[in-house]
Parts: sequence; C-alpha cells; structure tokens
Amino acid sequence: MKIALITGSAGLVGSEAVSFFADKFDRIIGIDNNYREVLFGANASIEWNLKRIQSLYQNYAHYSIDIRDKKSLEGLYKEFSTDIELIVHTAAQPSHDWAAKDPFTDFSINANGTLNLLEMTRLHCPEAVFIFTSTNTLIRTFMNKVAISRNA
Ligand SMILES: NC(=O)c1ccc[n+]([C@@H]2O[C@H](COP(=O)([O-])OP(=O)(O)OC[C@H]3O[C@@H](n4cnc5c(N)ncnc54)[C@H](O)[C@@H]3O)[C@@H](O)[C@H]2O)c1
Repeated sequence: MKIALITGSAGLVGSEAVSFFADKFDRIIGIDNNYREVLFGANASIEWNLKRIQSLYQNYAHYSIDIRDKKSLEGLYKEFSTDIELIVHTAAQPSHDWAAKDPFTDFSINANGTLNLLEMTRLHCPEAVFIFTSTNTLIRTFMNKVAISRNA
C-alpha cells in the first residue's frame, strides 16, 4: 500500500497537500491536533476544514496527534512502516508574533516536532521523500531575541 503522511493536514498548506495527493496514493494519513485553535482562537479552528477533507477523500484517515508526542508518532510509524512513501510536513506554529511572545512553545513545535518526524522517518521508512514547508521561524525567533536584547 502506498501511503502519504501529511502533518498539519487540516491547516492551510496541509489541506491543499491532502487534495493534491489524495488520488496519487492508496491512503492519506493526516496528523493535526487543531493546535491552530489554541494559537489563534476559535475562529481559526480546523474542524470545518477537517470535515471537508474527510467528506471529499474516502482514503483520508485522521490522527489527532501532537507532533511533539514522540511515542504516539512512533506507534503510527511502526504500524505503517515502509508503506509510507511520502511525508509532507506542514504542522507548525506559523506566527511571527507568537514566536516572539512564546519562543519555547514555538521551538518545541517547529524544531523538536520536526526532529521527531525526521527521526521517525529515518528509523521506520528511510526511503520516503520528506517535504518540509517551513520558512524561517527559527531564524525569526533568534532575530527577535537579538532585537529584544539590543533594545533592552
Ligand atoms: N501559508 C503560507 O502562505 C505559507 C507560505 C510558506 C510557508 N509556509 C509554512 O508552511 C507551514 C504551514 O503553514 P500554514 O499557513 O498551513 O499554517 P496553518 O496554521 O494553517 O497550518 C498548520 C497546522 O498545523 C497544526 N499544528 C500546529 N501545531 C501542531 C502540533 N504540535 N501537532 C500537530 N499539529 C499541529 C495546526 O493545527 C494547523 O492546522 C508553516 O511552517 C509556514 O511557515 C506557509
């Protein structure tokens, strides 16, 4: 079975990736824990978009896992193993303001969460293609800290 694993699957970029890959793989595994709602409030909830992709794509399976939760990720990767041929990693804390306000949460999602996915891929499906959509949040976090200390 050919599987594409898409993180942040009910977010803006992730849900477009689901639409694009749904007819190219036997199964799409989506990971998204609706952290978007925690970050940006009820109006930013993924629920409507999740319902939309679930109704459009019968081969879509959703997992409400936090990408910082290594144990849950490991269970998923062990279950599907080398059937996973593609990972599109879009789960993220994407806000500049949030990165400045709470760099530890930002780092834990964008850096540690990404490392979890890379390591699970290396251990369980090393031949899979890994697409990472993140832009420059880590650099932004660092630059914000420099700016804050300069202005102090
Ligand atoms: N939107 C753009 O125009 C754009 C452009 C270039 C790059 N990017 C990058 O693409 C990535 C995704 O951006 P987006 O606009 O789709 O953001 P988004 O907020 O719409 O989607 C991110 C998804 O990740 C989920 N998520 C957040 N933390 C999670 C966690 N700990 N565990 C599981 N799921 C979690 C959220 O619930 C959300 O649905 C970001 O890294 C962003 O910097 C976005």
